[in-house]
Amino acid sequence: MESSKKNIVVFTGAGISAESGLTTFRDNKGLWKQQRLEDLATKHAWEYDPERVLAFYNHRIAKANAAQPNAAHHAIAELEKYYDVSVITQNVDDLHERAGSTNVIHLHGRLNFVQSSLDASVVYPWHGKPILIGQRCEFNCQLRPNVVLFGEPVLHLDEARTLMLEADKVLAVGSSLSVQPAAGLLNEASAHAEKILISKEVKTKPFDYQFIRGNATELVPSVCANWLRES
Ligand code: APR
Repeated sequence: MESSKKNIVVFTGAGISAESGLTTFRDNKGLWKQQRLEDLATKHAWEYDPERVLAFYNHRIAKANAAQPNAAHHAIAELEKYYDVSVITQNVDDLHERAGSTNVIHLHGRLNFVQSSLDASVVYPWHGKPILIGQRCEFNCQLRPNVVLFGEPVLHLDEARTLMLEADKVLAVGSSLSVQPAAGLLNEASAHAEKILISKEVKTKPFDYQFIRGNATELVPSVCANWLRES
């Protein structure tokens, strides 16, 4: 039976987790301002120096595990009362899920899972512990973070595209829109969809999006409250 509820897609980036204490990538003190992503988050880096890559991701696993969802994550979860909501996130933390969102698509993987270094489709739940050299999958290959490294294919892209095409409303939060193909998804939304972008700043505003500058924890609850009143 077709749902009578309208479809909302929420597209998120590191900025929505910033106020939960998780560092973004390209802000002034961002991760890629402190260290070179080429040494830490590429396929080559993993093959060349897995210990260094594991140390970087083990730090992020611990931080993500200790973080709490913020008011923006909770407001998005609330939308499910009256809308069919899909969260398409570039983030690898599980704060959307812990806030109560039930349909979260991770384009760039998840820190609360590990994968076989032989086969990315072989994944295991991983709850906050460090990944160590010598910990191996069922095929006796080294475990690694279940995250998409630069140079590897993004996950669930077709599904994300379809959801964006069918969205009645799109809310994009906390992304610099610097990384493709993720950022390009915003342009897949239909001309008829209401489209809002919340961020502190953005390189190029996608066409036909209303840009609201500011903090996610203030602006996202306000947009969601308006949409709940409308429903
Ligand atoms: N509220 C709203 N927006 C914020 C906040 C906040 N409190 N703090 C920061 N921002 C915004 C910044 O203005 C910036 O536009 O969030 C955005 C963060 O941008 P990036 O650090 O580039 O993060 P993101 O867009 O998610 O990066 C995409 O790059 O390295 C890869 O895989 C990584 O998924 C990541 C991808």
